[in-house]
Amino acid sequence: MDAEKLGKSRFLNVFFKPSGAVMESRLRHWLFDPEKTLRGAGVEPGQTVLEVGCGTGFFTLPAAEMIGEAGRLIAMDPLSGFVDRVTQKVRDAGLKNVEVVRRDALNTGLEAASIDLVLLFGVVPYPTLPLDRLLPEMHRVLKADGNLAVWLFPISFGVPTAILRSGLFTGLGKKNGVYRYRRSGGSAGFTQ
Ligand SMILES: C[S@@+](CC[C@H](N)C(=O)[O-])C[C@H]1O[C@@H](n2cnc3c(N)ncnc32)[C@H](O)[C@@H]1O
Repeated sequence: MDAEKLGKSRFLNVFFKPSGAVMESRLRHWLFDPEKTLRGAGVEPGQTVLEVGCGTGFFTLPAAEMIGEAGRLIAMDPLSGFVDRVTQKVRDAGLKNVEVVRRDALNTGLEAASIDLVLLFGVVPYPTLPLDRLLPEMHRVLKADGNLAVWLFPISFGVPTAILRSGLFTGLGKKNGVYRYRRSGGSAGFTQ
């Protein structure tokens, strides 16, 4: 969907917009170490990383630090308030390796085979990111040896199974609460 239309959708505005304060709360930082989760995802220096649904940027800044100056992070969200907030945080932190974009991850507009690692952190399963459309798009943008990392909030055991059943990814295991997958050679053949 057009990012502007999606950003105005009732679901996003009623459900996600008010949760922005919780997403970046001190309590969350106190309870939860974003770097540990990013290490579980396999974030490494020099990678090109796509962060789907960056929200208020809880993972964005630590991920940008971890990939370093040689890396590139594309932080994507359809809500303009979140995009503005993260853009400001990136600017304040003096980070030059992050692009914050207002876009629907079902139609990223990114070049095929351009991404080393996709982060799906706290974004599935949600109605605005159906796996039967999201996974083929993530498969398209990932490089042949690229990886997909999924951290589930809320926990949903159906998601890891659906990813494997799609035939687009093979499992690499779970580390620090993050499920990791390698992009498979095949083309889309999703079954739900
Ligand atoms: C629960 S929040 C998680 C935010 C962030 N990953 C975190 O853990 O703090 C889910 C985010 O996904 C975004 N989102 C929902 N549908 C999307 C879509 N189709 N494309 C990209 N992002 C989307 C929402 O706007 C929201 O910011």
